[in-house]
Amino acid sequence: MRDTPPAEPAAAAPADDLAGRRLVLGLTGGIACYKAAELTRELAKAGATVQVVMTEAAERFVTAVTMQALSGRPVFTSQWDLRAPNAMAHIDLTRAADAVVVAPASADFIAKLAHGLANDLLSLACLARPRERCSLLVAPAMNREMWDHPATRRNVAQIAADGAAVLGPASGDQACGEVGDGRMLEAAEIRDEVVAHFQPKVLAGRRVLVTAGPTYEPIDPVRGVTNRSSGKMGFAVARAAAEAGAAVTLVAGPVALPTPRGVARLDVQTARQMHDAVLPLAAAHDVFVATAAVADWRPAQVAAHKLKKADGHDAPTIAMAPNPDILAAVARLPRPPYCVGFAAESHDLAKHAREKRERKGVPLVVANVGPATFGRDDNALLLVDAAGERELGQGDKLALARALVREIARRLPAAQEPR
Ligand code: C5P
Repeated sequence: MRDTPPAEPAAAAPADDLAGRRLVLGLTGGIACYKAAELTRELAKAGATVQVVMTEAAERFVTAVTMQALSGRPVFTSQWDLRAPNAMAHIDLTRAADAVVVAPASADFIAKLAHGLANDLLSLACLARPRERCSLLVAPAMNREMWDHPATRRNVAQIAADGAAVLGPASGDQACGEVGDGRMLEAAEIRDEVVAHFQPKVLAGRRVLVTAGPTYEPIDPVRGVTNRSSGKMGFAVARAAAEAGAAVTLVAGPVALPTPRGVARLDVQTARQMHDAVLPLAAAHDVFVATAAVADWRPAQVAAHKLKKADGHDAPTIAMAPNPDILAAVARLPRPPYCVGFAAESHDLAKHAREKRERKGVPLVVANVGPATFGRDDNALLLVDAAGERELGQGDKLALARALVREIARRLPAAQEPR
């Protein structure tokens, strides 16, 4: 088992994740302005209307022409712009907006926000926005020493205390040649943060543990037994739970999927490793969602060297041993989290799900048609609990995962103290 590298963004967001959202995208002075061009496209592709506002310094790094072409809307750069009929662009810009996203946000601009200064169009618009319905998301971008400076730390803490969401920054190579904290997040990461921002926080304060993917049971150093689970459903559940405000731990079998933002991930290979990773963590979580397609059996002996084909001899017979049932073991804990099992069936979904619910001793089983969903981006779910059945019809896995997260949140005992 090993810890994985930092989270990467998902490759693409579903096309309608930001449908109907009206965003003001503010650019302030910094090399990272080049990423704002890409961000504009990402936000627009996800369905948002993007109104770009640039400071004078931002225009030194990227032109308004570029930003207008990408956003499909005239860019605002000055508080003296007479295009607004009432000459009050700083007021009008945010009255119909759902959020202002400042990316990149320079140290200077964050200082202005912290002190309520308002001497250019973007800072005016931030100060004048209706805070209860237009949020402020800020993606800092600056040299590591500037980011580390006590004045910047104070200002960042202040804007967070005033209600701004601070996105990042990331760590790594900087345009100045130094290495450290202060890089702006990548465009797709900021897009994912904006998408997450708009999801209802139905799991705020909760801790959620998810298993995902197949397991791999070695026969010898080069061969093994596994299955066709892609891990997509479990990763979608982890992402949806994080978007809903939960602290999420994802224990993943061998899959080639990026870690959803904000999710802590542990990679394992075998069922026993997954069991050993999950069991000590489970009691500290409020919810356990077992989406992994855990191998039921493993080769009883793992050969130290590659099994050789001996001329004229029969194929080897591989003795198998049963793997531990992780979900059932978690459900048997003295104070188990709310346990959600998955059932990949080929027929009689409800019947098998009900049986599985009883057998594993879990309150909720989610059934799907295994062969129809393995490796695909869409799925359909049937939820079976003590109260009966509920269908979540065909949809992409992230949309279904968000719906499932809402269903789980509704079922959590209200009196249960977050762990
Ligand atoms: O027993 P079966 O494999 O049909 O049950 C499926 C459910 O149990 C899934 O939620 C799966 O993640 C979980 N499971 C487990 N450990 C196993 C086998 C299945 O956690 N060894």
